[in-house]
Amino acid sequence: TPPELLRNFCIIAHIDHGKSTLADRMLQLTGVVDSRAMRAQYLDRMDIERERGITIKSQAVRMPWALEDESGTLTPYALNMIDTPGHVDFTYEVSRSLAACEGAVLLVDAAQGIEAQTLANLYLAMENDLQIIPVLNKIDLPAAQPEKYAEEIAGLVGCDPDDVLKVSGKTGVGVTELLDRIVQRVPAPHGDPDAPARAMIFDSVYDTYRGVVTYVRVVDGNLSPRERIVMMSTRAAHELLEIGVTAPEPVPTQGLGVGEVGYLITGVKDVRQSKVGDTVTNQAKPASEALGGYSDPKPMVFSGLYPIDGSDYPVLRDALDKLKLNDAALVYEPETSVALGFGFRVGYLGLLHLEIVRERLEREFNLDLISTAPNVIYDVTLEDRSVVTVTNPSEFPGGKIMEVREPVVRATILAPAEYIGAIMELCQQRRGDLLGMDYLSADRVEMRYQLPLAEIVFDFFDQLKSKTRGYASLDYDVTGDQAADLVKVDILLQGEQVDAFSAIVHKDKAYAYGVMMTGKLKDLIPRQQFEVPIQAAVGARVIARETIRAIRKDVLAKCYGGDISRKRKLLEKQKEGKKRMKTIGRVDVPQEAFIAALTSQ
Ligand code: GTP
Repeated sequence: TPPELLRNFCIIAHIDHGKSTLADRMLQLTGVVDSRAMRAQYLDRMDIERERGITIKSQAVRMPWALEDESGTLTPYALNMIDTPGHVDFTYEVSRSLAACEGAVLLVDAAQGIEAQTLANLYLAMENDLQIIPVLNKIDLPAAQPEKYAEEIAGLVGCDPDDVLKVSGKTGVGVTELLDRIVQRVPAPHGDPDAPARAMIFDSVYDTYRGVVTYVRVVDGNLSPRERIVMMSTRAAHELLEIGVTAPEPVPTQGLGVGEVGYLITGVKDVRQSKVGDTVTNQAKPASEALGGYSDPKPMVFSGLYPIDGSDYPVLRDALDKLKLNDAALVYEPETSVALGFGFRVGYLGLLHLEIVRERLEREFNLDLISTAPNVIYDVTLEDRSVVTVTNPSEFPGGKIMEVREPVVRATILAPAEYIGAIMELCQQRRGDLLGMDYLSADRVEMRYQLPLAEIVFDFFDQLKSKTRGYASLDYDVTGDQAADLVKVDILLQGEQVDAFSAIVHKDKAYAYGVMMTGKLKDLIPRQQFEVPIQAAVGARVIARETIRAIRKDVLAKCYGGDISRKRKLLEKQKEGKKRMKTIGRVDVPQEAFIAALTSQ
């Protein structure tokens, strides 16, 4: 297809604002999926996505759409719809999907108004010079307020409120007009057809049968089957086994030219060899310069992951190896914990990523897992000026420390104006700095904060939701790092450190953490035959203490006769009961106690 007849667009929407429903409706109207084959949410393939109603992986679909001009001639266009992932942890993937498009449909629920996530992605689209097509969805809802929200959106996009299309993905109202408008408003792609090939990877998915399927947008030149291609970030060369478009099942083609969107198959087995943001070129006639914007995924949040049943460790290892093929951002290394046994320290992009990985492991590999409290990555400068990167609190260096740096984010919070006070209070408690505030309409505000990432990974979102009755929405982006007064708090059982409970916290919060943890463990650890102190300590200084009083359960009390074999039997039995116990120093603790302490944060 010549570039003038192509339109590449994506849909920017908040979770639940109806992106999948609208996309399904478009597939139906353009005839690529007939009504019988239609199942709800055709594009969300992973089961977990469908169940939780979130889209994790972006995909592209090609749809034909003809438009009549003034003279009455029908021109056939090809629309490429690129599905953007909708969550904070995947900002980089969103930015790459946007970079593959010339236009973006801004889809907003007419009963809810725009949310922080959508706003952040809208700004990203505007920075990339995408043509924005504002749309209010779900206008069939009785609670819809299209006039109010059209005004809000018009203010943000800089258009007339009458320009905001009003549709319903559910009933189909307005969707034909939307498709027409995409053709009319979204610019055709530009590129040099004679230049060496350059295509940007905006997604890369592992498929059990076909290996890695890489989604690309061709910028210059063209790619054809059987030629050798090169990934410009690694210089790795591969043969192009298949190239094609998704419509919505894969259809092999004779190549992809300027502006086209499609998939490549090279036989690589690991998404790390085909990275989002990378540029694909031709080996025989390579481009001299890669397309801009490439960056490696950087894990920011770490946590220990352990099988509840220790014998599942090899299963967990294999499961992680498999998952890695599909997830370029996942990193892990083996770790042992006195309290939890053998496991892994896993790095994630953020909390949602953590949740998704854990859930997939449990569901697809049938594992029962426990994860330790998540922490961020720290750079610690020692007295000799050397810098240690810490991803596990128990590895936080002792001795003299010059400086500790922690990642900071720029957070955008949207909420009804009545909650400004509550939000400010929460952000202040979390060491936040207000950067700015704007009214979107008379009763809704956008607040911008700089906050330490560590404060966000710890139940920030839940707190924000509860303080605003669920009305606030949050988006954040890691923007850099800052020096902070951070210390490591250790939890000691009878003087022995329990590794899984060490935490790096701000100096002012060390005491609260110590009191909370010691209190919790006191309730969970059964009494022993001797008194057990539970302490929280910063270095050698104890900051909180609880004591578990002693009991003596004398199993021999019953048999004062002289039957030695009976005595031995009883002792044997008592030992049996201790098997699932973890021993910290002299203290026996059922593993369940540690698990309970970690899960009831
Ligand atoms: P993610 O996949 O999580 O990003 O969600 P989504 O934005 O794709 O939302 P989805 O299409 O799954 O729709 C969310 C909910 O809104 C579902 O219960 C839909 O049935 C409902 N919904 C979607 N479009 C409409 C609409 O036009 N009108 C009404 N009344 N409900 C809609």
